[in-house]
Amino acid sequence: MPTNRQIVLDNRPEAEATASNFKLVSADTPALADGQVLVRHHYLSLDPYMRGRMNDSKSYAAPQPLGEVMIGGTVGEVAESRHPKFKVGDPVVGMGGWQEYSVVDGNAPGLLRKVDTTHVPLSYYLGAVGMPGVTAWYGLTQIINPQAGETVVVSAATGAVGSAYAALAKARGCRVVGIAGGPEKCRYAVEELHFDACIDYREHGDVKAMAKALKEACPKGIDGYFENVGGYILDAALLRTNAFARVAVCGMIAGYDGAPLPLQNPALILINRLKIEGFIVTEHLDVWPQALQELGTLVAQGQLKPRETIAQGIEAAPEAFLGLLKGKNFGKQLVKLI
Ligand SMILES: NC(=O)c1ccc[n+]([C@@H]2O[C@H](COP(=O)([O-])OP(=O)(O)OC[C@H]3O[C@@H](n4cnc5c(N)ncnc54)[C@H](OP(=O)(O)O)[C@@H]3O)[C@@H](O)[C@H]2O)c1
Repeated sequence: MPTNRQIVLDNRPEAEATASNFKLVSADTPALADGQVLVRHHYLSLDPYMRGRMNDSKSYAAPQPLGEVMIGGTVGEVAESRHPKFKVGDPVVGMGGWQEYSVVDGNAPGLLRKVDTTHVPLSYYLGAVGMPGVTAWYGLTQIINPQAGETVVVSAATGAVGSAYAALAKARGCRVVGIAGGPEKCRYAVEELHFDACIDYREHGDVKAMAKALKEACPKGIDGYFENVGGYILDAALLRTNAFARVAVCGMIAGYDGAPLPLQNPALILINRLKIEGFIVTEHLDVWPQALQELGTLVAQGQLKPRETIAQGIEAAPEAFLGLLKGKNFGKQLVKLI
Protein backbone atom coordinates (compact mmCIF):
# COMPACT_ATOMS: atom_id res chain seq x y z
CA MET A 1 0.00 0.00 0.00
CA PRO A 2 1.30 3.51 -0.81
CA THR A 3 2.67 5.98 1.73
CA ASN A 4 0.26 8.78 2.52
CA ARG A 5 1.50 12.29 3.27
CA GLN A 6 -0.91 14.18 5.50
CA ILE A 7 -1.28 17.59 7.15
CA VAL A 8 -2.52 17.45 10.72
CA LEU A 9 -3.56 20.29 13.03
CA ASP A 10 -0.66 20.42 15.48
CA ASN A 11 -1.78 23.30 17.74
CA ARG A 12 -4.49 25.95 17.79
CA PRO A 13 -3.96 29.58 16.69
CA GLU A 14 -3.70 32.26 19.38
CA ALA A 15 -5.18 34.89 17.04
CA GLU A 16 -4.08 34.87 13.40
CA ALA A 17 -3.52 31.35 12.03
CA THR A 18 0.08 30.55 11.04
CA ALA A 19 1.88 27.75 9.20
CA SER A 20 3.26 26.51 12.53
CA ASN A 21 -0.28 25.42 13.51
CA PHE A 22 0.07 22.58 11.00
CA LYS A 23 2.40 19.59 10.73
CA LEU A 24 3.28 17.39 7.74
CA VAL A 25 3.37 13.67 8.63
CA SER A 26 3.53 10.38 6.72
CA ALA A 27 1.53 7.23 7.32
CA ASP A 28 1.03 3.92 5.58
CA THR A 29 -2.35 3.43 3.95
CA PRO A 30 -3.99 0.43 5.64
CA ALA A 31 -5.07 -2.71 3.77
CA LEU A 32 -8.72 -2.45 2.70
CA ALA A 33 -11.51 -4.28 4.52
CA ASP A 34 -14.63 -5.47 2.71
CA GLY A 35 -16.75 -2.52 1.52
CA GLN A 36 -13.84 -0.05 1.66
CA VAL A 37 -12.37 2.03 -1.15
CA LEU A 38 -8.91 3.60 -1.45
CA VAL A 39 -9.08 7.01 -3.11
CA ARG A 40 -6.07 8.78 -4.58
CA HIS A 41 -6.75 12.49 -4.24
CA HIS A 42 -6.06 14.70 -7.25
CA TYR A 43 -7.18 17.97 -5.69
CA LEU A 44 -7.77 19.17 -2.15
CA SER A 45 -10.20 22.04 -1.57
CA LEU A 46 -9.17 24.89 0.72
CA ASP A 47 -12.14 26.74 2.21
CA PRO A 48 -12.53 29.58 4.70
CA TYR A 49 -14.69 27.46 7.07
CA MET A 50 -11.55 25.49 7.97
CA ARG A 51 -10.29 28.49 9.93
CA GLY A 52 -13.27 28.24 12.30
CA ARG A 53 -12.59 24.54 12.87
CA MET A 54 -9.05 25.33 14.04
CA ASN A 55 -10.46 27.07 17.14
CA ASP A 56 -11.75 25.20 20.15
CA SER A 57 -14.82 27.38 20.54
CA LYS A 58 -18.58 27.00 20.28
CA SER A 59 -19.73 26.97 16.67
CA TYR A 60 -22.14 25.21 14.36
CA ALA A 61 -19.58 22.41 13.90
CA ALA A 62 -17.22 20.57 16.25
CA PRO A 63 -13.60 21.78 16.34
CA GLN A 64 -10.92 19.99 14.34
CA PRO A 65 -9.26 17.56 16.79
CA LEU A 66 -5.54 18.15 17.39
CA GLY A 67 -3.19 15.63 15.80
CA GLU A 68 -5.76 14.53 13.23
CA VAL A 69 -5.79 15.10 9.47
CA MET A 70 -7.34 18.48 8.63
CA ILE A 71 -10.90 18.22 7.34
CA GLY A 72 -11.42 19.06 3.67
CA GLY A 73 -13.19 18.25 0.42
CA THR A 74 -11.27 16.19 -2.15
CA VAL A 75 -11.68 14.89 -5.67
CA GLY A 76 -9.71 12.00 -7.06
CA GLU A 77 -9.97 8.54 -8.47
CA VAL A 78 -10.53 5.12 -7.01
CA ALA A 79 -7.11 3.46 -6.65
CA GLU A 80 -8.35 0.21 -5.15
CA SER A 81 -11.80 -1.05 -4.29
CA ARG A 82 -13.48 -3.74 -2.22
CA HIS A 83 -16.92 -2.28 -2.89
CA PRO A 84 -19.00 -3.39 -5.91
CA LYS A 85 -20.28 0.15 -6.60
CA PHE A 86 -16.78 1.65 -7.03
CA LYS A 87 -14.27 0.56 -9.68
CA VAL A 88 -10.60 1.41 -10.04
CA GLY A 89 -10.36 4.65 -12.03
CA ASP A 90 -13.82 5.99 -11.10
CA PRO A 91 -13.69 9.78 -10.56
CA VAL A 92 -15.06 10.56 -7.09
CA VAL A 93 -15.70 13.47 -4.75
CA GLY A 94 -15.59 13.15 -0.98
CA MET A 95 -14.28 14.61 2.25
CA GLY A 96 -10.85 12.98 2.20
CA GLY A 97 -9.06 15.75 4.10
CA TRP A 98 -5.57 17.25 3.74
CA GLN A 99 -3.83 14.07 2.61
CA GLU A 100 -2.86 12.25 -0.56
CA TYR A 101 -5.05 9.16 -0.06
CA SER A 102 -8.08 8.25 1.97
CA VAL A 103 -9.79 5.00 2.85
CA VAL A 104 -13.56 5.39 2.65
CA ASP A 105 -16.44 3.15 3.69
CA GLY A 106 -18.27 2.77 0.37
CA ASN A 107 -21.51 1.89 2.18
CA ALA A 108 -21.72 5.06 4.29
CA PRO A 109 -24.32 7.37 2.72
CA GLY A 110 -22.91 10.56 1.19
CA LEU A 111 -19.23 9.92 2.01
CA LEU A 112 -18.11 9.20 -1.55
CA ARG A 113 -19.89 10.16 -4.76
CA LYS A 114 -19.03 9.24 -8.33
CA VAL A 115 -18.99 12.22 -10.68
CA ASP A 116 -19.27 12.69 -14.42
CA THR A 117 -16.30 14.51 -15.92
CA THR A 118 -17.61 14.56 -19.51
CA HIS A 119 -18.60 18.24 -19.42
CA VAL A 120 -17.37 19.33 -16.00
CA PRO A 121 -13.65 19.15 -15.10
CA LEU A 122 -12.93 17.09 -11.98
CA SER A 123 -11.65 20.07 -9.94
CA TYR A 124 -14.91 22.00 -10.46
CA TYR A 125 -16.66 19.51 -8.17
CA LEU A 126 -14.86 21.27 -5.32
CA GLY A 127 -15.90 24.73 -6.49
CA ALA A 128 -18.54 25.87 -8.97
CA VAL A 129 -20.26 22.46 -9.11
CA GLY A 130 -19.55 21.62 -5.49
CA MET A 131 -20.07 22.99 -2.01
CA PRO A 132 -19.22 26.67 -2.82
CA GLY A 133 -21.53 26.68 -5.88
CA VAL A 134 -24.38 25.19 -3.87
CA THR A 135 -23.73 27.81 -1.19
CA ALA A 136 -24.26 30.59 -3.73
CA TRP A 137 -27.34 28.82 -5.07
CA TYR A 138 -28.87 28.39 -1.61
CA GLY A 139 -28.39 31.96 -0.47
CA LEU A 140 -29.59 33.40 -3.75
CA THR A 141 -32.59 31.18 -4.46
CA GLN A 142 -33.76 30.20 -0.97
CA ILE A 143 -33.12 33.40 0.98
CA ILE A 144 -32.82 36.31 -1.45
CA ASN A 145 -35.20 34.79 -4.02
CA PRO A 146 -34.84 37.71 -6.45
CA GLN A 147 -37.22 38.84 -9.16
CA ALA A 148 -35.87 39.74 -12.59
CA GLY A 149 -34.80 43.38 -12.61
CA GLU A 150 -33.89 43.48 -8.92
CA THR A 151 -30.40 44.49 -7.80
CA VAL A 152 -28.38 41.93 -5.89
CA VAL A 153 -24.92 42.42 -4.38
CA VAL A 154 -22.24 39.99 -3.19
CA SER A 155 -18.96 40.51 -1.32
CA ALA A 156 -15.84 38.35 -1.98
CA ALA A 157 -17.27 38.55 -5.50
CA THR A 158 -14.54 36.80 -7.48
CA GLY A 159 -14.12 33.86 -5.08
CA ALA A 160 -15.56 30.38 -5.38
CA VAL A 161 -18.96 31.36 -3.97
CA GLY A 162 -19.08 34.87 -5.48
CA SER A 163 -18.37 33.76 -9.04
CA ALA A 164 -21.12 31.14 -8.97
CA TYR A 165 -23.48 33.71 -7.45
CA ALA A 166 -22.90 36.04 -10.41
CA ALA A 167 -23.80 33.39 -12.99
CA LEU A 168 -26.89 32.29 -11.04
CA ALA A 169 -28.13 35.85 -10.51
CA LYS A 170 -27.52 36.87 -14.14
CA ALA A 171 -29.51 33.80 -15.23
CA ARG A 172 -32.41 35.22 -13.19
CA GLY A 173 -32.27 38.61 -14.91
CA CYS A 174 -30.88 40.59 -11.97
CA ARG A 175 -28.54 43.55 -11.90
CA VAL A 176 -25.53 41.99 -10.16
CA VAL A 177 -22.94 44.07 -8.31
CA GLY A 178 -19.80 42.64 -6.74
CA ILE A 179 -17.40 43.85 -4.06
CA ALA A 180 -13.81 42.57 -4.33
CA GLY A 181 -10.24 43.43 -3.38
CA GLY A 182 -8.18 45.21 -6.03
CA PRO A 183 -8.55 46.52 -9.58
CA GLU A 184 -7.53 43.24 -11.24
CA LYS A 185 -10.23 41.27 -9.44
CA CYS A 186 -12.83 43.96 -10.19
CA ARG A 187 -11.93 44.05 -13.89
CA TYR A 188 -12.15 40.28 -14.04
CA ALA A 189 -15.54 40.36 -12.25
CA VAL A 190 -17.04 42.57 -14.95
CA GLU A 191 -15.24 41.22 -18.03
CA GLU A 192 -15.26 37.50 -17.27
CA LEU A 193 -17.91 36.88 -14.62
CA HIS A 194 -20.45 39.30 -16.15
CA PHE A 195 -21.05 41.39 -13.04
CA ASP A 196 -22.75 44.65 -14.04
CA ALA A 197 -20.36 46.53 -11.76
CA CYS A 198 -17.72 45.69 -9.18
CA ILE A 199 -16.49 47.88 -6.31
CA ASP A 200 -12.89 47.66 -5.11
CA TYR A 201 -13.22 47.80 -1.31
CA ARG A 202 -9.56 48.68 -0.97
CA GLU A 203 -10.39 51.98 -2.69
CA HIS A 204 -13.37 52.46 -0.35
CA GLY A 205 -12.00 51.68 3.08
CA ASP A 206 -14.80 52.93 5.35
CA VAL A 207 -18.59 52.84 5.60
CA LYS A 208 -19.10 56.29 4.09
CA ALA A 209 -16.94 55.66 1.02
CA MET A 210 -18.36 52.18 0.46
CA ALA A 211 -21.96 53.38 0.84
CA LYS A 212 -21.28 56.11 -1.73
CA ALA A 213 -19.79 53.59 -4.17
CA LEU A 214 -22.76 51.27 -3.64
CA LYS A 215 -25.16 54.13 -4.31
CA GLU A 216 -23.50 54.73 -7.68
CA ALA A 217 -23.36 51.03 -8.59
CA CYS A 218 -26.92 50.36 -7.37
CA PRO A 219 -28.98 53.41 -8.44
CA LYS A 220 -32.23 51.60 -7.57
CA GLY A 221 -30.93 50.43 -4.16
CA ILE A 222 -30.15 46.88 -3.04
CA ASP A 223 -32.89 44.22 -3.01
CA GLY A 224 -30.68 41.29 -2.07
CA TYR A 225 -27.31 41.21 -0.35
CA PHE A 226 -25.16 38.09 -0.02
CA GLU A 227 -22.67 38.61 2.80
CA ASN A 228 -19.31 36.86 2.76
CA VAL A 229 -17.13 39.37 4.62
CA GLY A 230 -18.79 41.37 7.44
CA GLY A 231 -17.59 44.57 9.11
CA TYR A 232 -17.91 47.95 7.43
CA ILE A 233 -18.85 46.34 4.09
CA LEU A 234 -21.99 44.91 5.70
CA ASP A 235 -22.75 48.26 7.37
CA ALA A 236 -22.49 50.04 4.01
CA ALA A 237 -24.62 47.47 2.19
CA LEU A 238 -27.38 47.71 4.83
CA LEU A 239 -27.43 51.49 4.39
CA ARG A 240 -28.32 50.98 0.71
CA THR A 241 -30.99 48.28 1.16
CA ASN A 242 -34.49 48.88 -0.12
CA ALA A 243 -37.58 48.18 1.97
CA PHE A 244 -38.09 44.41 2.30
CA ALA A 245 -34.59 43.59 1.08
CA ARG A 246 -33.22 40.14 1.90
CA VAL A 247 -29.76 39.54 3.34
CA ALA A 248 -28.23 36.05 3.13
CA VAL A 249 -25.49 35.83 5.75
CA CYS A 250 -23.06 33.28 4.40
CA GLY A 251 -19.67 34.25 5.81
CA MET A 252 -17.81 36.86 7.87
CA ILE A 253 -14.27 36.24 6.70
CA ALA A 254 -13.02 39.64 7.94
CA GLY A 255 -13.48 38.29 11.48
CA TYR A 256 -12.20 34.70 11.16
CA ASP A 257 -8.87 35.53 12.77
CA GLY A 258 -10.64 37.06 15.76
CA ALA A 259 -11.25 40.71 14.79
CA PRO A 260 -14.55 41.94 16.30
CA LEU A 261 -17.22 42.85 13.72
CA PRO A 262 -19.79 45.10 15.42
CA LEU A 263 -22.90 46.11 13.49
CA GLN A 264 -23.05 49.89 13.32
CA ASN A 265 -26.73 50.51 12.65
CA PRO A 266 -29.04 47.57 13.51
CA ALA A 267 -32.04 49.93 13.47
CA LEU A 268 -31.93 49.56 9.68
CA ILE A 269 -33.30 46.03 10.10
CA LEU A 270 -36.51 47.59 11.39
CA ILE A 271 -36.52 50.75 9.28
CA ASN A 272 -36.11 48.80 6.02
CA ARG A 273 -38.09 45.73 7.25
CA LEU A 274 -35.16 43.50 6.32
CA LYS A 275 -35.09 39.74 6.28
CA ILE A 276 -31.64 38.67 7.48
CA GLU A 277 -30.93 34.94 7.51
CA GLY A 278 -27.74 33.04 8.20
CA PHE A 279 -27.31 29.57 6.76
CA ILE A 280 -24.93 26.61 6.63
CA VAL A 281 -25.08 24.87 3.28
CA THR A 282 -24.42 21.38 4.64
CA GLU A 283 -27.65 21.60 6.65
CA HIS A 284 -29.64 21.71 3.41
CA LEU A 285 -28.59 18.52 1.64
CA ASP A 286 -32.11 18.08 0.22
CA VAL A 287 -31.58 20.88 -2.31
CA TRP A 288 -28.04 19.90 -3.40
CA PRO A 289 -29.13 17.77 -6.39
CA GLN A 290 -31.26 20.61 -7.77
CA ALA A 291 -28.49 23.16 -7.21
CA LEU A 292 -25.75 20.93 -8.69
CA GLN A 293 -27.92 20.29 -11.74
CA GLU A 294 -28.25 24.01 -12.45
CA LEU A 295 -24.58 24.74 -11.72
CA GLY A 296 -23.42 21.87 -13.94
CA THR A 297 -25.60 23.15 -16.77
CA LEU A 298 -24.24 26.70 -16.43
CA VAL A 299 -20.68 25.31 -16.65
CA ALA A 300 -21.48 23.02 -19.59
CA GLN A 301 -23.09 25.96 -21.43
CA GLY A 302 -20.11 28.24 -20.77
CA GLN A 303 -22.09 30.67 -18.60
CA LEU A 304 -20.03 29.88 -15.51
CA LYS A 305 -16.27 29.82 -16.13
CA PRO A 306 -14.74 29.83 -12.67
CA ARG A 307 -11.11 30.68 -12.15
CA GLU A 308 -8.88 28.51 -9.97
CA THR A 309 -5.70 29.19 -8.01
CA ILE A 310 -3.77 25.96 -7.70
CA ALA A 311 -0.97 25.28 -5.19
CA GLN A 312 1.27 22.30 -5.90
CA GLY A 313 1.74 19.41 -3.47
CA ILE A 314 0.33 18.62 -0.03
CA GLU A 315 3.19 20.50 1.68
CA ALA A 316 1.92 23.73 0.03
CA ALA A 317 -1.53 23.47 1.66
CA PRO A 318 -0.90 25.50 4.86
CA GLU A 319 0.56 28.55 3.09
CA ALA A 320 -2.13 28.41 0.39
CA PHE A 321 -4.79 28.26 3.10
CA LEU A 322 -3.36 31.26 4.95
CA GLY A 323 -3.25 33.12 1.62
CA LEU A 324 -6.94 32.36 1.04
CA LEU A 325 -7.79 34.08 4.32
CA LYS A 326 -5.98 37.20 3.07
CA GLY A 327 -7.39 37.25 -0.46
CA LYS A 328 -4.23 36.03 -2.19
CA ASN A 329 -6.34 33.49 -4.07
CA PHE A 330 -7.99 34.47 -7.33
CA GLY A 331 -11.07 32.25 -7.63
CA LYS A 332 -11.34 28.81 -6.10
CA GLN A 333 -8.26 27.84 -4.05
CA LEU A 334 -7.12 24.25 -4.64
CA VAL A 335 -4.08 22.12 -3.95
CA LYS A 336 -3.02 19.74 -6.72
CA LEU A 337 -1.76 16.48 -5.30
CA ILE A 338 -0.90 14.42 -8.36
N1 LIG B 1 -22.49 29.44 5.14
C1 LIG B 1 -21.97 28.44 4.46
O1 LIG B 1 -22.48 27.32 4.43
C2 LIG B 1 -20.73 28.71 3.65
C3 LIG B 1 -20.26 27.76 2.71
C4 LIG B 1 -19.13 28.10 1.93
C5 LIG B 1 -18.51 29.32 2.10
N2 LIG B 1 -18.97 30.18 3.04
C6 LIG B 1 -18.37 31.51 3.22
O2 LIG B 1 -18.41 32.16 1.98
C7 LIG B 1 -17.36 33.10 1.89
C8 LIG B 1 -16.60 32.90 0.59
O3 LIG B 1 -16.04 31.61 0.58
P1 LIG B 1 -15.25 31.09 -0.70
O4 LIG B 1 -14.99 29.65 -0.48
O5 LIG B 1 -15.93 31.52 -1.93
O6 LIG B 1 -13.86 31.84 -0.55
P2 LIG B 1 -13.22 32.84 -1.62
O7 LIG B 1 -14.16 33.95 -1.81
O8 LIG B 1 -12.78 32.05 -2.80
O9 LIG B 1 -11.93 33.33 -0.85
C9 LIG B 1 -12.05 34.16 0.25
C10 LIG B 1 -12.04 35.63 -0.20
O10 LIG B 1 -12.46 36.43 0.87
C11 LIG B 1 -11.98 37.74 0.66
N3 LIG B 1 -11.50 38.31 1.93
C12 LIG B 1 -10.66 37.76 2.80
N4 LIG B 1 -10.47 38.60 3.84
C13 LIG B 1 -11.21 39.69 3.60
C14 LIG B 1 -11.43 40.90 4.31
N5 LIG B 1 -10.85 41.14 5.49
N6 LIG B 1 -12.27 41.80 3.77
C15 LIG B 1 -12.86 41.55 2.58
N7 LIG B 1 -12.69 40.42 1.86
C16 LIG B 1 -11.87 39.51 2.38
C17 LIG B 1 -10.83 37.63 -0.34
O11 LIG B 1 -11.28 38.20 -1.57
P3 LIG B 1 -10.88 39.72 -1.94
O12 LIG B 1 -9.47 39.69 -2.41
O13 LIG B 1 -11.86 40.08 -2.98
O14 LIG B 1 -11.03 40.47 -0.69
C18 LIG B 1 -10.66 36.14 -0.53
O15 LIG B 1 -10.27 35.81 -1.85
C19 LIG B 1 -16.52 32.89 3.15
O16 LIG B 1 -16.90 33.84 4.10
C20 LIG B 1 -16.91 31.51 3.61
O17 LIG B 1 -16.71 31.31 4.99
C21 LIG B 1 -20.06 29.88 3.81
